[in-house]
Amino acid sequence: MDHQVVIVLDFGGQYNQLIARRVRECGVYCEVKPYTTPIAQLRELDPIGIIFTGGPNSVYDPNAPHADPELFTLGVPILGICYGCQLLAHHLGGRVTAAQADTAREYGRTETFFDPNCKLFRGLPTESVTWMSHGDYMEQVPQGFSLVAHSDACPNVGICDEKRGFYGVQFHPEVNHTQYGTGMIRNFLYEVCKAKGDWTMGDYKNIAIRQIREKVGAGKVLLALSGGVDSSVAAALVAEAVGRQLTCVFVDHGLMRLNEGGEVEQAFSKWDINFVRVNAEDLFLSKLSGISEPEAKRKIIGEEFIRVFEAQAKKIGQVDYLCQGTIYPDVIESGLGASATIKSHHNVGGLPDYVDFKEIIEPLRMLFKDEVRQLGRELGLPEYLVMRQPFPGPGLAIRVIGEVTKEKLDTLRLADFIFRDEVAKANLEDSMSQYFAVLTNMRSVGVMGDGRTYDYTLALRSVTTSDFMTADWTRIPYDVLDRVSVRIVNEVPHINRIVYDITSKPPATVEWE
Ligand code: XMP
Repeated sequence: MDHQVVIVLDFGGQYNQLIARRVRECGVYCEVKPYTTPIAQLRELDPIGIIFTGGPNSVYDPNAPHADPELFTLGVPILGICYGCQLLAHHLGGRVTAAQADTAREYGRTETFFDPNCKLFRGLPTESVTWMSHGDYMEQVPQGFSLVAHSDACPNVGICDEKRGFYGVQFHPEVNHTQYGTGMIRNFLYEVCKAKGDWTMGDYKNIAIRQIREKVGAGKVLLALSGGVDSSVAAALVAEAVGRQLTCVFVDHGLMRLNEGGEVEQAFSKWDINFVRVNAEDLFLSKLSGISEPEAKRKIIGEEFIRVFEAQAKKIGQVDYLCQGTIYPDVIESGLGASATIKSHHNVGGLPDYVDFKEIIEPLRMLFKDEVRQLGRELGLPEYLVMRQPFPGPGLAIRVIGEVTKEKLDTLRLADFIFRDEVAKANLEDSMSQYFAVLTNMRSVGVMGDGRTYDYTLALRSVTTSDFMTADWTRIPYDVLDRVSVRIVNEVPHINRIVYDITSKPPATVEWE
């Protein structure tokens, strides 16, 4: 390892990714490992600290995940969070019990009191709000531990044995609701584990480039570039590492937003690589002709994409490596790297079966999305690419409701551009996770000048979400909506009515199709 590492030992908690992100935000590299990871493997990583995550179990459940007792003999500091804290107590001779209703069981925001002499809370206020979510509590703390935090309902909210470097908190320092949670994690890393803070994207870039060079040697690399953040950053990294040994195939299906195809090509013009842009708009539009069912559109686009990509790959001949933009959340969600199978590409809806290659390389495999963006910046990718919002693989085809035609796509592109332009001018981008226009298949009567119109209704959609599994509609200020509406009906032909979608997910989905 070229940097210090902290291990986040996963006991099944829902916030595990969040813990790992917080650690990295503090400038310390960490990896999430299942609690079953053999000690020898953990030792090999030579961690400076270990964090036990929360989990849904009670330590007395017959199937509860337990910590290997050897973990406590490594001489490595441990921070136990929630279930992780109870595990610590349980294994080291304390007693954990189910809290009686209304006594020590706590959920949600809780006023908590801290002992500032404990390294974990050093320099932080002695009273603040924490986020609790536990049914069990530590009735008796293990020998050698002292109580360093409490709430009104629970005397044992935080424990520590500073001699051995063991710390436990019943609440979740990783969630935003815990007022000084990041400060506590930072204290664990810097005060307890003596972290150096050697995880920066600038350093990572150099390390990753070196590793890619070592791995690829004189081999050829092939990458399907979608124009999304992940594949773009992966491409830029490999471009920087091996230059002309890389071929990027960018299939422009003609379903992208205004100017997007050109922007992608422009962003990569600074590298001396084999950049193949396939202008396949006519092909995709002819395949989509007469098709209005959303899943049928998706299927056609996914299959056609693969066909076009494979045709290009065949021209290149034997490649050694296929590069993919898989990122860490995908790895964690798919079972912590247990599966080595090719995942269907999130942006392009599938991957070629028979492109001839030796191995897959995934240079972003250990990075969170915000780190990927930062790495993109380090590599000199433009901000519009690095900050690009998620965009579905089937592109605007699923934002033109019903049959897709070139005219409808052009209408939608212009309207969508105006919406994004006004959002940018109002500085609202950061408050919106994904925002776009949808060309509905509905026409209605309007009046323009002295004449009657019978034109399309355009819908605006914006959601705010952290995971896209659930989402809330964004409360865009009326004056911004008004400007967007006025501009679109004036500047975009064939639209005479604008509506704003105010449904959350569920019951609606983010996209209309
Ligand atoms: P939904 O509409 O399912 O969208 O609430 C959730 C997120 O997924 C994106 N999305 C897609 N991405 N291919 C993709 O690559 C698709 O077919 C697809 N459909 C939806 C959507 O844009 C949102 O970010």
